Amino acid sequence: MTPAQPAPLRKAVVPAAGMGTRFLPATKATPKEMLPVVDKPAIQYVVEEAVSAGLTDILMITGRNKRALEDHFDRNQELERILQDKGDQDRLRKVRATNDLAALHYVRQGEPKGLGHAVLCAAPHVGDEPFAVLLGDDLIDPRDPLLARMAEVQRDHGGSVIALMEVDPAQIHLYGCAEVALTKDADVVEVTSLVEKPQPGQAPSNLAVIGRYVLSPAVFDALRDTPPGRGGEIQLTDALERLLATGDEPIHAVVFKGRRYDTGDRGDYLRAIVRLACEREDLGADFRTWLHQYVTQSLPHSP
Ligand code: UTP
Repeated sequence: MTPAQPAPLRKAVVPAAGMGTRFLPATKATPKEMLPVVDKPAIQYVVEEAVSAGLTDILMITGRNKRALEDHFDRNQELERILQDKGDQDRLRKVRATNDLAALHYVRQGEPKGLGHAVLCAAPHVGDEPFAVLLGDDLIDPRDPLLARMAEVQRDHGGSVIALMEVDPAQIHLYGCAEVALTKDADVVEVTSLVEKPQPGQAPSNLAVIGRYVLSPAVFDALRDTPPGRGGEIQLTDALERLLATGDEPIHAVVFKGRRYDTGDRGDYLRAIVRLACEREDLGADFRTWLHQYVTQSLPHSP
């Protein structure tokens, strides 16, 4: 008898309940995931990425300002009627595009007790199947698809799959960090240990955990057993390290070399907007001309 094929990955969890303190006061009444990157909120890029990787059921973990998130993916009949009456078909199409992207569900994380706690809030919805996690403020350029490759690695190896990116060793203390062993695939490594925000000089590598995961449902038990860690928050990285320590399931990682923007960081947020605006067909030509002039004529020259 041939073993049963693993169920295809269907569900995505998108945590969007953080405090966004680095963006205050913009995030006082608006989730940081709703901040626009050119003319779409960051969260829309993330939901579109999940949909293009074939995920059909998306659970968003929301916090105190959940209204804006829910409204964005819901119909706005009044706005649609006004655009319709004006004959503004282009904008009407853009507004409607967000209504039916996927089956969207919402669950509230009562208190922002950390990313691990946010993922644990998804347990009743996810049930007993592998699921993807996409951080709502982490953008992966659609030209460099990552999630589909992670799903493939999960199908081949089982267990869980995370995404890693090489960073400047001086920056690794800002991330979860992985110790890894090579596999026969150049873009895949096996994770041997994980540490959240290692002390400078104590990082096992310069491979940083970025905001895409394909997780086994076994992570929920690990999360239930994980005490608050760094910053007093329940850390997903700590739960994955706990899962590794049981030896029951492997964790692999895809080493990502594409374009990624952490829109929760102000510098990266600005870089994402400039880069995406420069590349846009409708805005790029004018914006690039202005930017070139600004950089060459208006900015003081650095030494
Ligand atoms: P971050 O650590 O970047 O979010 O979490 P934060 O805590 O909002 O950031 P700052 O430092 O205060 O600016 C990564 C992702 O996990 C979500 C965030 O919304 C973000 O998408 N998150 C974080 C939750 O959903 N719940 C939490 O308790 C913490």
